[in-house]
Amino acid sequence: MLKHPLERLDQDAVLRAGLLPFCRLKAGEIWVDAQSGHRVGCLDAASSEDVISLCGSDPATLAVHDLPYNFIAFGQRSHDDFAAWCEQVVLNSEAVMGSDSSLYLWLGADQKDGFAPLPEIMLMMRRTGFQSRSLITLRNQRGYGTQKNWMSVRQELLYYIKGAPVFTPQYTDIPKTVRGYYKDVRGERKENTSRGLGETIRAGNVWIDIQQVFYRMEENVNGCYAQKPLRAIRRIVDASSSPGDTILDFFAHSGTTLLAAEMSGRRCLTMDVDPIFCEVVIRRLENYRMTGMTGWQNSNPFVEELKK
Ligand SMILES: C[S@@+](CC[C@H](N)C(=O)[O-])C[C@H]1O[C@@H](n2cnc3c(N)ncnc32)[C@H](O)[C@@H]1O
Repeated sequence: MLKHPLERLDQDAVLRAGLLPFCRLKAGEIWVDAQSGHRVGCLDAASSEDVISLCGSDPATLAVHDLPYNFIAFGQRSHDDFAAWCEQVVLNSEAVMGSDSSLYLWLGADQKDGFAPLPEIMLMMRRTGFQSRSLITLRNQRGYGTQKNWMSVRQELLYYIKGAPVFTPQYTDIPKTVRGYYKDVRGERKENTSRGLGETIRAGNVWIDIQQVFYRMEENVNGCYAQKPLRAIRRIVDASSSPGDTILDFFAHSGTTLLAAEMSGRRCLTMDVDPIFCEVVIRRLENYRMTGMTGWQNSNPFVEELKK
């Protein structure tokens, strides 16, 4: 099968050198969106100066960080070093978040390696000023594994808060089908299907209704190996912020959080240490505004440049 030209964008030196001249940002620079006030910085999430230069003094209501746990998967850091690095990122984030705010951390758990880095990150979070609220699991449709183990189909999402932030329950598209759970509500006997606000079931802390991104989906951004589904990020944004709020994402990659913020009337302050992913993020927003498309499906953000 032919490989997509942007596959291995993170590691292919020749491809990277060819694309860098087309990137608007160099290390330390910030792009400001004139229309909605979003910002994209080519910055380092572990640097407190970089975080302050991106965020200024307007406190954020919500932070959604997708920790680059490939650092430990590819042996670049030990588990404890990774947790210490993440603690610095969380402290940097906390410094620019409001007194009533929510923090979500996406994370993997390697079943071949003591479920790292999930336990280390959970213990590290106990030392911070955040209070634990939920451990959410997103179920992938495709997984990995052998016939000798349960197939691994999960992605973990830790939810923490500071103070008393907004929380709006979110509903899935799954109809309420289980009947027979009766309860007396204000003297009236009510059935499970007639209780509650929605026709469908509420999203709990196991999400089985969200498709992971693959090349047939419009939102697919070729070259982005760790893209989160837009629907998952929309669910977080809609639950834990209000229109007009400021949202943070320090690991932008394909720019899913920025796009979710744009679609739901929030402002996003985001960064990536890699100028190519910063350019992808800006182009994804511009492409959405121009065409209404959430990604490039089988095409890619650098299609014109690659033709040349
Ligand atoms: C797991 S991906 C994020 C995926 C993103 N949630 C999405 O939906 O596309 C992690 C990203 O973090 C970036 N990154 C790694 N170290 C960083 C650092 N110190 N500061 C900022 N970004 C960093 C990587 O370049 C990569 O694009």
